[in-house]
Amino acid sequence: MARPNPNISALPVIRQLDDAAINRIAAGEVVERPASAVKELVENSIDAGAARVEVTYQEGGKSLIRVTDDGCGMAPEDLPLALSRHATSKIDGSDLLNIQSFGFRGEALPSLGAVGRLTVTSRRTGFDAAQISVTGGEESAVRPAALSRGTVVELRDLFFATPARLKFLRSDRAEAQAIADVVKRLAMAEPFVGFSLKDAGTGRDVFRADPQSGDLFDALGGRLSQILGREFTQNAVPVDAVREGVTLTGFAALPTYSRGAAVSQFFFVNGRPVRDKQLTGALRGAYADFLSRDRHPAVALFIECDPTRVDVNVHPAKSEVRFREPGVVRGLIVSALRHALAEAGHRASTTVADGVLGAMRPEPTNPSEPVVYQMDFASRSRPQPPPSGFSEAPAAQVEPEPAIDLTSHPLGAARAQLHENYIVAQTATGMILVDAHAAHERLVYERLKAQVAANGVTRQALLIPEIVEMSVEDAQTLLGQADALAQMGLAIEGFGAGAVAVQETPAVLGLCNAKALLLDVLDELTDGGTTRAVKERIDAVLSRVACHGSVRTGRRMRAEEMNALLREMEATPHSGQCNHGRPTYVELKLTDIERLFGRT
Ligand SMILES: Nc1ncnc2c1ncn2[C@@H]1O[C@H](COP(=O)(O)OP(=O)(O)OP(=O)(O)O)[C@@H](O)[C@H]1O
Ligand SMILES: [Mg+2]
Repeated sequence: MARPNPNISALPVIRQLDDAAINRIAAGEVVERPASAVKELVENSIDAGAARVEVTYQEGGKSLIRVTDDGCGMAPEDLPLALSRHATSKIDGSDLLNIQSFGFRGEALPSLGAVGRLTVTSRRTGFDAAQISVTGGEESAVRPAALSRGTVVELRDLFFATPARLKFLRSDRAEAQAIADVVKRLAMAEPFVGFSLKDAGTGRDVFRADPQSGDLFDALGGRLSQILGREFTQNAVPVDAVREGVTLTGFAALPTYSRGAAVSQFFFVNGRPVRDKQLTGALRGAYADFLSRDRHPAVALFIECDPTRVDVNVHPAKSEVRFREPGVVRGLIVSALRHALAEAGHRASTTVADGVLGAMRPEPTNPSEPVVYQMDFASRSRPQPPPSGFSEAPAAQVEPEPAIDLTSHPLGAARAQLHENYIVAQTATGMILVDAHAAHERLVYERLKAQVAANGVTRQALLIPEIVEMSVEDAQTLLGQADALAQMGLAIEGFGAGAVAVQETPAVLGLCNAKALLLDVLDELTDGGTTRAVKERIDAVLSRVACHGSVRTGRRMRAEEMNALLREMEATPHSGQCNHGRPTYVELKLTDIERLFGRT
C-alpha cells in the first residue's frame, strides 16, 4: 500500500493537467536521450523534403543539438502551431492506417520544447524568415529572423527541466555514439539525401554522406558503402524478392563476412528504421545453415508493403512495428536470403583474400585502417602445422600437367598439398588455397542434407556396436529421437539403463568415432531446447554429424582426390564457407600476387 501523498487531500480530486505538465509527460516517452531528439529532428527535415541535412552536437548532445535543412520550411504563422501538441501537417486524422511520412503524431517539437531550450528558425518560399523559442514549456512570441531557406532547429540544455532524466544519461561519448547510429540509420533509409554530422566541441566531422544518384539499387549500394564501408558492399549479395505483395530489397553479406555481435543488422519497414525481434529472428533462421550461433550476419534490408499491412503506431518512438501477417514477412526473409546466398554459389568473401594479402605484405599496414572483422582464426580447431624447419616433409608433388587443362575450372587444377591439409590450385587468373578439412566438412553436410531430403541418409553397420555410457536422462533424450536419428543415418538402441548402443553410422562419414559423434549429437539435441524449428534442429544435428566425416584431414591426398574435391566444391551450393561461416578457400589473383612482390 502506498503512503498517503501530502499533496492530495483525503478524497481524490480529478484535475486537468496544464500543457507544460502534459508535454513533459509525453516527452518522457518520445525523448529518452539526445539521440531520440536527433532522430525526431532529422525525420522532420526529411519529411520537409530536404536534400541536405546537417546535424551538429556538443557534449554528446547534452548541451547542444542543431539540425539544419533545406526543406520546405514554415511560414511565420505556422511556427506556434508547430510547437503545439497534436498539431501536424502530415496526416488529417482520418486514416491512421495509411501513413507515408516519418512523423504523424504532432508531438516531437512540443515534447522537446518541454524538456529543453528549443529555438526554431524557418523560412518558407514567398514568406519572411521567422523564429520562435520555447524554454521548459514557456513559449516566446514569433519574431523576424535571418535565414535564406529551410529550417534550423536548435535544442540546448536537453532535460534541464527534468533533472531526473539528466541523471540517466550516459557519458558524452556513449551519447554521441547513439546520435551517430541514429543519423546513419536514417541516412541508409534516404540515399538520395545528403547528411553530415559534426561534433561542435571538437570541430570534427563525425560522418558525412553525399547525396546519391542513379536508380534506387545503385544509390543504396553507394550509400551503404559510405556508411558500412566498401567491404560490406563488396562482400554482400543483392536481395530483391516479392511475396504476396511484400517486397524485400537490400544487401546481405556473405557468411564469411560475419561479426561477433549483431551490430550490423539494419532493417527498414516502408523506409523507417526499425528494431524488431521478429525480423532479427527471421534473419537468424536464414543464416542458420551457414553460421555458428556466436556469429552474426551483416545485412541492410528494406521491407516495403502497403502501409495498411503494417502498424507503425505501436511505440511513441516508432521504432517498433506490427505486421498484420508476420508469417509472410518471415517466410520472405528466410527464402529470399537463402536464395540470394545460394546464388552467390561458392563465393567466399574478398576480405579473406585481402586479409591474407595484408598479412603477407611486407610494409606495415596503416593502423587507422578499419580492422577486418573476419572469423577468429585462433579459435579454429584445425591441425597445427608442424614446427617449421628444414626437416619438414616436402609438399606432396602432383604429377605433370593432366591431359585436360583443369585450370579453366573456377577452382583450377590442384598443384600441391601443404601440411597434410591445404590444397594449392592454379586457375586461369591466379591461385586458390583450399582448406580441405573445412571444404570436406561442408560437402559432407550438403550431401547429408540431400540424402535426408530424398529418403534418409545411407547407413553403414558397425562391425561391433559401440556402447556409449551416459546419464539415464541423456540416454532417454537420444532414444526418444531414435527414429529421427535413424533418418539422419545414426541407428541406436537402448543398452541397459544408462547406456546407448550405436549400431549404424552415416555411410558418407566413412570410419568415424561413433562415441564422439553420438555425444556431439546429444549436445545439439539438448542445446537450444525445443525452441528451434524442426528443420533448424535437423540441420544443426547434420552439421554436427558432418564434422565427424573429415576423413581427409591429416593425410596426404592424391592428385585425383584433390581435383575431385575441387570439382565437387564447384558443383555444391554454399561450398565457399564451412558450416561455421569460415571460408573454405581463398583466391589470390595473379595481380594480387604481383602486388605482393611489388611487381606492379
Ligand atoms: N524541419 C522542418 N521543416 C518544415 N516543417 C517542419 C519541420 N519540423 C517540423 N515541421 C512542422 O511542424 C510540425 C510539427 O512537428 P512535430 O515533429 O512536432 O510533429 P510531426 O512530425 O507532425 O509528428 P511526430 O510527432 O510524429 O514527429 C510538422 O507536422 C511540420 O509541419
Ligand atoms: Mg516529427
